[in-house]
Amino acid sequence: MKAAYAYNAWYPLAWSSDIGRNLNARRVLEQDIVLYRTEGGEIVALEDACPHRLAPLSLGKLKGDSVECGYHGMAFDCSGKCISAPGMARPPAGSEIRKFPTAESMGMVWVWMGDADKADLSLVFNMPEYDNPEFSVVQGDALLVHTNYLNLADNLCDPTHVVYVHQSTLASSGREETRVMHERDGNKVVTWRWVIDGPLIPVFEGLKDFGGNVDRWHYYHYHAPSVAVIDFGSAKTGTGAPEGNREDCIQMYACHFITPVDQSTSVQHWLCIKNMPSDTEVDTRLVDGLRLAFNEDKVVLEGIQQREDQNREWKRVNLSLDASNIKMRRIIEEMAASN
Ligand code: FES
Ligand SMILES: [Fe+2]
Repeated sequence: MKAAYAYNAWYPLAWSSDIGRNLNARRVLEQDIVLYRTEGGEIVALEDACPHRLAPLSLGKLKGDSVECGYHGMAFDCSGKCISAPGMARPPAGSEIRKFPTAESMGMVWVWMGDADKADLSLVFNMPEYDNPEFSVVQGDALLVHTNYLNLADNLCDPTHVVYVHQSTLASSGREETRVMHERDGNKVVTWRWVIDGPLIPVFEGLKDFGGNVDRWHYYHYHAPSVAVIDFGSAKTGTGAPEGNREDCIQMYACHFITPVDQSTSVQHWLCIKNMPSDTEVDTRLVDGLRLAFNEDKVVLEGIQQREDQNREWKRVNLSLDASNIKMRRIIEEMAASN
């Protein structure tokens, strides 16, 4: 079954640092987009198809702030208006291309895929910790995952797979029965679990010496349709972390920005924000650990997509652990229905 798309939303599309004075091809919600930066530094997102023969404009040339098609030279300004057509005194009717509203936040370029007049910059996802000097940011990867974006969102609302999929990175053994809580708040779902008086997880080892066991939290914040922030951390057991005392703790936010490319492809840009200073050695080890973990998810999620793509009778079996995923999918359906 085809998953619905919510068009009136900001979607993450690229690392800001990757978009400069050249033409970049990106795809989101089955729409090809050409992305570039004007001489003044503004991000421009235009439909990546020339109205003449549908040649990808991303194969053309950036001239000043305009794009020249690489096939016969039609040119478009950064509002999508055709400004010259070869052999024509003036551009023919219907020769403009669609321009998409854009924004930059948290080191990402975001694009609004619905009605341009509904694009509200105050809705672009942002976390104050990203710019807070008491935290440091470690940039991860733009991971291509051959799976539907809802399968990826399922995974990012789900603490229960960790003990099975991430034994060597994010799990501590013997803790799979810990109770999972969840709650919907508007277009967000938060799913959380605590592990009380357990060992540190492998990716936290060596970051801080707690002198024994810790209380460990995982809060999975899913902001529909395409942001998941996993707030995970540890504090010495018995010091009141579950009651809110996290003064002496490891605090991390794994931020996942999901680009739904098409029905069976997603791009997962991820980064980590942590409450400790940048340190090349620590950061490299952390990124290596998280990269390993997110590639463990990729293997499972791509296997799921392959099986979904096979011609088979299948009705999803729901378990009690699916409660937050069901809420997540309902939010997307509601958003898509109000496009
Ligand atoms: S396809 Fe672009 S000008 Fe012909
Ligand atoms: Fe995972």
